Amino acid sequence: MILGRTATISRSKIQSITCLSKLSYRSIGNAAVPKFPFSRPYGVEPPIEYAQLRVNTPVSKVELWDGSHVWLVTKHKDVCDVLTDERLSKIRTRPGFPEMNAGGKAAAKNRPTFVDMDPPDHGRQRGMVAPTFTPEIAEEMRPLIQKTVDEMLDIMVQKGCKEPVDLVPNFSLPVPSRMIYSILGIPMEDLEYLTTCNAIRTNGSATASQASNASNDLLQYLGKVTDKKITNPSNDLISRLVVEQLRPGHLTREDVVQIAFLMLVAGNATMVNMINLGVVTLLQHPKQLNEFKKDPSLAKGLVEELSRFHTASAMATRRVATVDIMLNGQLIKAGEGIIASNQSANRDEDVFVHPDSFDIHRPTGPQLGFGYGVHRCVAESLARAEMEIALTSLFQRLPNLKLAIPFSEIKYTCPTADVGITELPIVW
Ligand code: HEM
Repeated sequence: MILGRTATISRSKIQSITCLSKLSYRSIGNAAVPKFPFSRPYGVEPPIEYAQLRVNTPVSKVELWDGSHVWLVTKHKDVCDVLTDERLSKIRTRPGFPEMNAGGKAAAKNRPTFVDMDPPDHGRQRGMVAPTFTPEIAEEMRPLIQKTVDEMLDIMVQKGCKEPVDLVPNFSLPVPSRMIYSILGIPMEDLEYLTTCNAIRTNGSATASQASNASNDLLQYLGKVTDKKITNPSNDLISRLVVEQLRPGHLTREDVVQIAFLMLVAGNATMVNMINLGVVTLLQHPKQLNEFKKDPSLAKGLVEELSRFHTASAMATRRVATVDIMLNGQLIKAGEGIIASNQSANRDEDVFVHPDSFDIHRPTGPQLGFGYGVHRCVAESLARAEMEIALTSLFQRLPNLKLAIPFSEIKYTCPTADVGITELPIVW
């Protein structure tokens, strides 16, 4: 039942599964609180529970891995309300903040960066990196992105197409990695080492301790790079943080290292997943793929729709209430955690027409794939440019690209994790 033929599941299918799901809730009793994250049923399709909750209980309780109960918010309007409510906090050390696993709970004690801060600290630190990721800078970076994409394609094509090639290590992983390394000012000779560390952190097959060791290796490495920039700054993000923020005393050395680490890892796995999902989704929609091959100016609409349809970063939009609030008629008490599901909001039938269909011609709508409010993705413009160039060049250069395996054998990330693809053998 994997999405082999099409990524679109009919409404009747969803409704019938939704009914089954309702029955199983009833059978465990009305007081039962479902476990979260829910599982994806069909490889890339969002969990079916979301559609049911949007209709019946848009603000409802779910149980996390540690037995804690938090609020799950599923309607688009409510998700936007949560992400713009300054009475809700992102500070992970506040009691009640929802952590998704033991590793997250341990990491919450680390020195925070802006991703885990509230205003005004959040804005102050985000403002130190934001000028590097404006839409204008992303436009200026397009030639470098194109050059990187072309180089990776050259190497991949040289390997030949007789044997299947895994797109992940040959293209989807190195393209975004090289871009962020070059923004941070990481020496090119260290790319391989860093790519390996990052892959161990994110590829899902490593154990928790291997992943944590790889994170520590990355932090130590970034510490050494920062020390070099302290004595010999250049024109890159780490150097700018050193010169503009560390020297005048606005940041400590540890802050600089943590911010560099955040920028290195924040979007890496998501970027890789989005490029892979873009390839598979286009192959599953051959009519739209043909249109895209003929008219690469469709890339913007394609990336917009991919970001809505897949919501590859679906667990980041979490908050904790600092005071009692009312949300869509539901009292949420101070100290209670909230998961604002941008993945569910992106399929909200009150906002998107035929939300479960993939349509690159869909009029631009308020999709929440990059979040909303002050914590909205700081590197959104860069991410969009990378996806547009990667997917356009891939299908222009290799118009006969196809999977070397049936769709049903694609290796997706674990059904309760963010949607992604861990291996993608292709031929052309
Ligand atoms: C397709 C790729 C990407 C997607 C779907 C994505 C998605 C998101 C989402 C949903 C958030 C909001 C989290 C929240 O509300 O708490 C976010 C924040 C963030 N993203 Fe991205 N992201 C992507 C790529 C990137 C890249 C490439 C980078 C770095 C170069 C990056 C860096 C960040 C950072 C630092 C934040 C925190 C912003 C803040 O708290 O102010 N993202 N991203």
